Amino acid sequence: MTRSTSRAGHQPNLWLLFILRLRKCFQLRYLLTILICLILLTYLRLISHAPSDQLLFDNLKPVVEEEKNYLDNANSNKCDFKEIESLLRYTSLKNSKNDSRPRPTIERLHTLFQILISSEDKYREIFKYLNIFRFSDIHNTLRPYSNNTERLYDIYCMFQRYITISDNGHIDIAPSFIQYLKQVSSYLSDGYNSQHLQWNKTSINDIQKPVVILAANTHFYPMLQASMRTINQYLKDYKVVIYDLGLSSIQLNMTQENCDRCVIIKFPFHVVETVAPHVRMLGSFAWKPIVIQDALRRFGSIIYGDTSVRYKTSNFNRLLIDNLIRGFSCRELPSHYVSCYTLSKTFTWFNDTFKTFEDIYIAEAGFLAVTDNFLSRLILKTWVTCALDSDCIAPIKSKTECKRLTVQANVHRYDQSAMVIVLSYYFFPSSRHNDKSEPAPYDMYSSIQASIADVRRAEGDPNYFTTKKNLNQ
Ligand SMILES: *[C@@H]1O[C@H](CO)[C@@H](O)[C@H](O)[C@H]1NC(C)=O
Ligand SMILES: *[C@@H]1O[C@H](CO)[C@@H](O)[C@H](O)[C@H]1NC(C)=O
Ligand SMILES: *[C@@H]1O[C@H](CO)[C@@H](O)[C@H](O)[C@H]1NC(C)=O
Ligand SMILES: *[C@@H]1O[C@H](CO)[C@@H](O)[C@H](O)[C@H]1NC(C)=O
Ligand SMILES: *[C@@H]1O[C@H](CO)[C@@H](O)[C@H](O)[C@H]1NC(C)=O
Repeated sequence: MTRSTSRAGHQPNLWLLFILRLRKCFQLRYLLTILICLILLTYLRLISHAPSDQLLFDNLKPVVEEEKNYLDNANSNKCDFKEIESLLRYTSLKNSKNDSRPRPTIERLHTLFQILISSEDKYREIFKYLNIFRFSDIHNTLRPYSNNTERLYDIYCMFQRYITISDNGHIDIAPSFIQYLKQVSSYLSDGYNSQHLQWNKTSINDIQKPVVILAANTHFYPMLQASMRTINQYLKDYKVVIYDLGLSSIQLNMTQENCDRCVIIKFPFHVVETVAPHVRMLGSFAWKPIVIQDALRRFGSIIYGDTSVRYKTSNFNRLLIDNLIRGFSCRELPSHYVSCYTLSKTFTWFNDTFKTFEDIYIAEAGFLAVTDNFLSRLILKTWVTCALDSDCIAPIKSKTECKRLTVQANVHRYDQSAMVIVLSYYFFPSSRHNDKSEPAPYDMYSSIQASIADVRRAEGDPNYFTTKKNLNQ
C-alpha cells in the first residue's frame, strides 16, 4: 500500500476548513450537494475496501458495515475440516504428566466467556471499531480481517463446530473443543524436540507476508529509529506500520520523509477514551493489545516489536507456519513466574487466584507474531477486553502474592500478566521436570530454537532519521 494513513488522518480538518470557506461563497443547497457527494465517495471507497483509512472513513463505517453481513452466504455444509482432522489424528511424542498447572477446561472457558459476555455491551462501540466479534451476536459481528473472507468462513466453521451461544445467553462449549486445544498444544510443543513435517512441506510463498508493526510516542522516538535501522537491514521488503501514540508533527514528518514504505496510523484514543480513560496512561500498557488487534484486523498477519526490539533475521518461516495453527506467539521468560509478576486483582478479574499460576512462566509482549485464525480471534478478544478494564490490566490497591521469593514486592507486568493468563485458557502447558518447563506451545522457541531478535531497552539512535534525508527505501 502506498497511501499514507497519517495524511489521511489529517483530512477531516482540511475538509472542515474547506467547507467553512465554501459556506461563505455558496448557498446551502450547494453545500448539501457537496456533502452528499462526499458521503457517496466515502461509501464507494468503503465497498472497494481501503483498510488503512482514518477518521473520515470511520465516521461512516459502522452505519455501512451494519448492512453487510459477511456470513449470509456461508454455508455450514461447506465447512472443510481437512486440516483440523489431520491435527486431530496427530500422536503426541510425549505423555504429558498431570500437574496442577492451568489448562483449558470446559469450566474455565465457561466462566471466561461469561465474564467476556458481561462486558460486551459496555465496549460495543470499541469492538465495532476494532472488528471484535460479540459472543452475543457472532453471526452479525464476525468480520473478515484484511478482506480475507475465506479465512472468515474457516473461523465461522470452527465456531459452529465448537462454541454455541443461544439467544438466552446459554453457552455451549463442545467437549471436543478441549480435545482440539490439546492436540494443538501437543503438536506445537513437540516442535521443540523434533521437526514438524509441515516446516519442510509448506512453501513460504504460500504464506501471507506479515506486516511489521511498531508503536511509539515522542519519548520513544530515538528507540523507534534504532529499531527501524534493524528493520531496514533485515526486513527491507516488508510493509511497516507505525502506531502514533503521541509523536510530534516534526517526528511524523521525519518518519515519512525517511521511510516511504512506513504507514503511520493514529492510535484510536478517541474511540476508547470515553469508556476506558486509563488507555491514555501509556504506563498501563493497555494500548498494546489494542494496537495488536487493530493491526491484525487491518493486515491479517503481523509481527509486532516494541521500539526496544532489534531484528536479527528475516527468517520467520517456521514461526509463521506454526502460527497458522496457533494464531499467536510470544517469548516466555523461563524461571520467571506469572504469580510473582502479577497483582492479585488481575487474577480476581478472571475469577481466579495467584495459586493457579505459580508454575507458569510469564512471557514478554514486546515481540509478538500474530496471524488471524479461530484461536487468535478468541485470544485477542479476551486480551483486549481485559485491557479495556483498568481493574484487569492495571488494578489499584492490590498486591502480588507468590510462593517464590522475589526481590521486589508488588511487581506487575500489565499487558504481559494479562496475556499469559489469557493464553492459559487456550493452550495446555508443556512438560515440566525438576522445576523447568519446556517452551509453551505459544512460545516462539517451540518453532525456532534461535534468537531472532534482541531487546535493548533505552538504547536509542536519535539521528538515524534526519530532517533532510532523501533515501529511496
Ligand atoms: C488429571 O487430573 C484430573 C484432576 O486432578 C483428573 O480429573 C484427570 O482424570 C487426570 N488425567 C489423567 C490423564 O491422569
Ligand atoms: C466466580 O466465582 C464466584 C465464587 O467462586 C462464583 O460465585 C461466581 O459464579 C463465579 N463467576 C463466574 C462467572 O463463574
Ligand atoms: C476483497 O475481497 C473480494 C472478494 O474476495 C475481492 O473481490 C476484492 O477484490 C477484494 N478487495 C481488495 C481491496 O483486496
Ligand atoms: C527439513 O529440512 C531440513 C533442512 O533442509 C533438514 O535438515 C530436516 O531433516 C528436514 N526435516 C524433515 C522432518 O524432513
Ligand atoms: C515535511 O515538512 C516539509 C517542510 O514543511 C514539507 O515540505 C514536506 O512535504 C513534509 N513531508 C511530509 C511527508 O509530510
